[in-house]
Amino acid sequence: MKFRLPTLFAYMLAALFILGSCKTYYTPTYNAYQPTPNASVERGKMLVQSSCAGCHFDPATGKLSGRQFMSTPGIAGKVYTANLTQSATHSPMSKYNEAEFVYLMRTGVARNGHYIPYMPRHFMSDADISAMYAYLRSSDEAVQAHDAVSGLTNLNLIGHMGSILLPKPEPFRPTVSGEDMSDQVAYGRYLVYNIGCWECHSKKGPMSLKHAHPEETKGYMAGGRKFKMPDGDIHSSNITMDKATGIGNYTAEDFRNAVLKNIAPDGKKLRPPMKDFHLLTEQEADAIFAYIKTLPPVKHDAQRKDAKR
Ligand code: HEC
Ligand code: HEC
Repeated sequence: MKFRLPTLFAYMLAALFILGSCKTYYTPTYNAYQPTPNASVERGKMLVQSSCAGCHFDPATGKLSGRQFMSTPGIAGKVYTANLTQSATHSPMSKYNEAEFVYLMRTGVARNGHYIPYMPRHFMSDADISAMYAYLRSSDEAVQAHDAVSGLTNLNLIGHMGSILLPKPEPFRPTVSGEDMSDQVAYGRYLVYNIGCWECHSKKGPMSLKHAHPEETKGYMAGGRKFKMPDGDIHSSNITMDKATGIGNYTAEDFRNAVLKNIAPDGKKLRPPMKDFHLLTEQEADAIFAYIKTLPPVKHDAQRKDAKR
């Protein structure tokens, strides 16, 4: 049999495609799982609104009903974040039991085995994951059933092949006790890891994020990740304590205003996708600032190509 070059190329592409789709499926295995008793809906609301809403909240519905995911390059197809409301028909979340939810959060592996690489919360404590679960099952307006999806995920061949390059799931950790909240720096790091400040404030996007060792991510907290926004590209700020290019001149008050109210020290509004983390307390903003002060200041003019704020 004689192979011509284009035929051979087509076969190779098909093989890569099959390999790619196999590698994005895993088998979830659950160890004996004990839900945390008396999970706090209020704590869950703070976590979901701070850590998940940026991707899953749709301002058009006022609910966590999902929206188009902006970080996927157009040539790979379209990705929509899931509907997390209580809709029995349109929300995958409504089918999750708590053990499956813990597994998804810790590894990124969904209950059907599909690997979702964008949002593992590797370090989130058992109590906090239970709190998020309780909130998603609560009577809060943002989680009431919305029986529709904003769009259907449709990755093309390039998208499927690209997903081979994404970080692989980490082994499942059945229990995580979290941090002692009275240790300010440790709690600040906990919030940065689990809210995901570092995912936006590092140098590059999803391909280079080291979810199991965030601090080893390239340009950790020194900014530069590019976001394609409707009015042009914007890069995340350098939020290390470098005086010239970072937030080295921030006072504690400046930091609270930026994080809780989205107001920069010069009084201007910070631009999306930065959002106001208004459900965090001042103490929590202070804890994040205390943690940032322990990181090495990095000189990196992350926004030099952007229009002025
Ligand atoms: C960076 C964006 C992003 C963040 C932040 C994020 N998600 Fe997602 N999530 C996605 C995308 C994209 C999908 C859909 C993936 C797909 O269709 O392949 C998804 C899907 C899901 C699903 C559906 C799983 C399934 O079985 O289909 C659940 C549940 C979920 N996310 C929960 C959460 C929770 C809880 C948080 C907060 C801790 C969160 N997500 C944070 C982007 C995000
Ligand atoms: C979805 C991505 C995203 C997330 C998550 C995010 N940020 Fe931002 N942040 C940005 C972008 C983009 C800017 C630049 C905004 C501008 O220039 O107007 C920014 C700006 C800032 C600034 C202002 C810095 C300056 O230029 O003076 C601070 C401080 C900050 N973020 C802290 C945080 C903290 C703390 C968290 C976590 C609680 C966080 N950010 C989470 C994207 C994000």
